[in-house]
Amino acid sequence: MEKTWLVIIAVLSLVAGVAALWLPIAGTALSLLIAVSCVYLLLHGTEGNEATPGAAAARAEAAGASSSKARSEPAPALVPSLPPAPAPAPTPPPPHSSVPPGSSSIPPPHGLSNYERLDKLAEGAMGELWLVRHVGLGRIAALKEIRGTEVNDEDVGRFTREAQVLSNLRCPHTIQVYDFGIGQDGFPFYVMEHLEGINLQQLVDKHGPLPSARAVHVLRQVCLSLQEAHEVGLVHRDIKPANVMLCRYGSAWDFVKLLDFGLVKRDRQRDSASLTRPAVVLGTPAYVAPESLRGSKYVDGRADLYAVGAVGHFLLTGRLLFDHDQPVAMARAHLLEPAPRVSDRVPVPRELDDLLYECLRKEPEQRPQTARELVERLDRVPTDPAWSQTQAEEWWSKTRARKGRTQRASVTS
Ligand SMILES: Nc1ncnc2c1ncn2[C@@H]1O[C@H](COP(=O)(O)OP(=O)(O)OP(=O)(O)O)[C@@H](O)[C@H]1O
Ligand SMILES: [Mg+2]
Repeated sequence: MEKTWLVIIAVLSLVAGVAALWLPIAGTALSLLIAVSCVYLLLHGTEGNEATPGAAAARAEAAGASSSKARSEPAPALVPSLPPAPAPAPTPPPPHSSVPPGSSSIPPPHGLSNYERLDKLAEGAMGELWLVRHVGLGRIAALKEIRGTEVNDEDVGRFTREAQVLSNLRCPHTIQVYDFGIGQDGFPFYVMEHLEGINLQQLVDKHGPLPSARAVHVLRQVCLSLQEAHEVGLVHRDIKPANVMLCRYGSAWDFVKLLDFGLVKRDRQRDSASLTRPAVVLGTPAYVAPESLRGSKYVDGRADLYAVGAVGHFLLTGRLLFDHDQPVAMARAHLLEPAPRVSDRVPVPRELDDLLYECLRKEPEQRPQTARELVERLDRVPTDPAWSQTQAEEWWSKTRARKGRTQRASVTS
């Protein structure tokens, strides 16, 4: 096609040159004709390059790879031999709306039918936790869902964000999310690894305070999870014993997993996006840092380190930092009363006592500044002997045996 036009133009140019010598008007007309031909060639001349389907496909593929927009738009008419464009990537479901179920603004259900419910593990005002099995993989997992008349759009947004945040964290001490979907009623759910173990609140309630070596072993793992979260600018904001699970994980015993990132928030000094209500409303008064109570705009990871100090105090003494029943009195104590030292209540290595006391300073500047620093200082606490896997395994075996005996006793009594 292109070749033919070039020959025609060459011949016409020759004729125009000769004609212009003798007849200026005929020469001008021919020149115009040549100009029009050139414009036509410019506009349509590349058509011939698409003659090979391979070349067209390669170009289309390159375009598709470099632009998701190109992927979702129909293929241009110039490349009729293109293979069909790949289906657009699934977009995350839009946030739930309070419009009643059945309305078109509720995203279509997806994913829940992949799971068989085996047992209800926990139930709260806003949702349930289920032991489930993935029907295709056979994998056992825990499914957390949010639902009910109490649930508003903000709760759904926070729940969705929790799943998104968790699915982007990689620390082995952070609960791992496998899946996310929308249930029949339009509310979201997410699926995570199922943990075999107990949370730290249950641990201390049932078995009493921990020896120093074991407490250090647990706190260190909590800090490793926080280290990653803080380094990407996230503050957990609800560190408390019930949100830390102590488990058997693969062949490891006393393996810690940090849960419940439902109040997670971006460090405002890095990013002003915030999805949570003030921690004073949603956090747990026994573990909340003074700056969160003051409603400071700049709550950062050091608020979590304060809570780690309070959790450490609880693990070692079996007591809350401040013995007040009322949340308001508890909040006042965090703001104004000096924190007690662990050594005021139980014997503990001085380095550990000082470190936890430092975490509990009212001013964030006076605490360890990062989770990484806290890990390093916990590693230097002389716990002789350190808590070993053998001790952990023995503890779990004894606890199981005791549990088995208690169950048998209650059946026969
Ligand atoms: N993946 C899991 N595997 C096993 N048990 C879990 C798992 N996730 C949570 N749990 C148990 O359920 C409890 C509540 O979980 P979680 O903290 O995530 O939910 P929640 O809705 O925030 O509850 P709460 O408001 O009481 O803290 C945990 O303390 C833990 O004992
Ligand atoms: Mg919780």
